[in-house]
Amino acid sequence: MSSTHTLRLGWFGLGSMGLAMASNLQKHLTEKSLPALHYANRNLSKGDPLKQVGGVPCQDVNELVQTCDVIFISVTNDEVLTSVINQFISTKSLAGKILVDTTTVHPDTTTSIAAELSTHNCSFIAAPVFGPPATARAGQLIIAVGGPPHAVEVITPYLQGVIARGVIPVGPDPSKALLLKSTSNFIGAGLMYLLSEAHVLAEKSGLPASVLESLIEANFGAYATNTSKRLTSGSYMPAVGQVPNSALELAIKDVGIGLGIAKEQGVKLEIGELSMAAMEEAKSVGDGSGRKLDSHSVFGVVRTKSGLGFENAAVRERDGLGEDEGA
Ligand SMILES: *[C@@H]1O[C@H](CO)[C@@H](O)[C@H](O)[C@H]1NC(C)=O
Ligand SMILES: *[C@@H]1O[C@H](CO)[C@@H](O)[C@H](O)[C@H]1NC(C)=O
Ligand SMILES: *[C@@H]1O[C@H](CO)[C@@H](O)[C@H](O)[C@H]1NC(C)=O
Repeated sequence: MSSTHTLRLGWFGLGSMGLAMASNLQKHLTEKSLPALHYANRNLSKGDPLKQVGGVPCQDVNELVQTCDVIFISVTNDEVLTSVINQFISTKSLAGKILVDTTTVHPDTTTSIAAELSTHNCSFIAAPVFGPPATARAGQLIIAVGGPPHAVEVITPYLQGVIARGVIPVGPDPSKALLLKSTSNFIGAGLMYLLSEAHVLAEKSGLPASVLESLIEANFGAYATNTSKRLTSGSYMPAVGQVPNSALELAIKDVGIGLGIAKEQGVKLEIGELSMAAMEEAKSVGDGSGRKLDSHSVFGVVRTKSGLGFENAAVRERDGLGEDEGA
């Protein structure tokens, strides 16, 4: 491994999270006059905004691996990650390199990838991130890192204050970072459900949503406030053709991983199960009306359980619908 200042960094996977993180990393490299971030993606033109800030496109995984010492990965799920890792391995050029995976996957997937890569003398760091794309764009994510200490030390300067506002070390076992991520997703999904119920209770009983939201802000912190705003602002149900802040399908995958782990451990996650059922119901509402819903659309489901319409006042006003006549 070369010394930190000549380290060549790479990025694979430019979805909304990947592109946001890679762009912040590239801006940091430019500021520090360090070698530019090389990148590859299945659809290379998704990297155009990254190229505009100085990123360098590679035609394929092979070129990326040949060019870089450390490569970050951000893809959608276990299946895609496994296939990408196999492409990396087939380059036969991984010895001495570090792969850093930011994808949310099952901890067992992480364990088997780390073991496989170690036979190729490649260090693997699991680095799942916490926060939606807007937070990623602001460079304000939380990131958990698990992997060989020497490799974690090499990459940490590119995380703290660059793509993340906080780095949580979880030790040498990469799978622990994914356990933390799954647990966090469970908390997030449960809080979403709980705040949905609180807002439904407020609405049915005549307590203004803005008053409840002031209390949430004053007493329960920024995270709960952000969740509450996704409900009250109507962004849980984006307008037709609008892309959700955080995709419902991804949340279903993420909470599903946590439920799977709980089952293996003989743990009953009743709140997780409730959230999952509500997300699946929301998905069928979205599919039925041909639109993409946000993970916070459990609010719509919770509303209908109490006789309110799926759409709240903000959605109805935005979309030019009339008064809520109930579900
Ligand atoms: C590739 O990405 C560009 C830019 O986002 C998009 O316009 C294009 O439709 C994508 N192509 C495919 C095949 O998905
Ligand atoms: C990994 O490192 C060991 C010890 O340095 C060496 O014997 C082996 O050939 C290397 N394997 C690969 C795939 O580079
Ligand atoms: C809440 O949202 C704001 C604005 O989008 C963002 O800057 C902030 O980081 C978020 N805070 C938390 C704790 O999620």
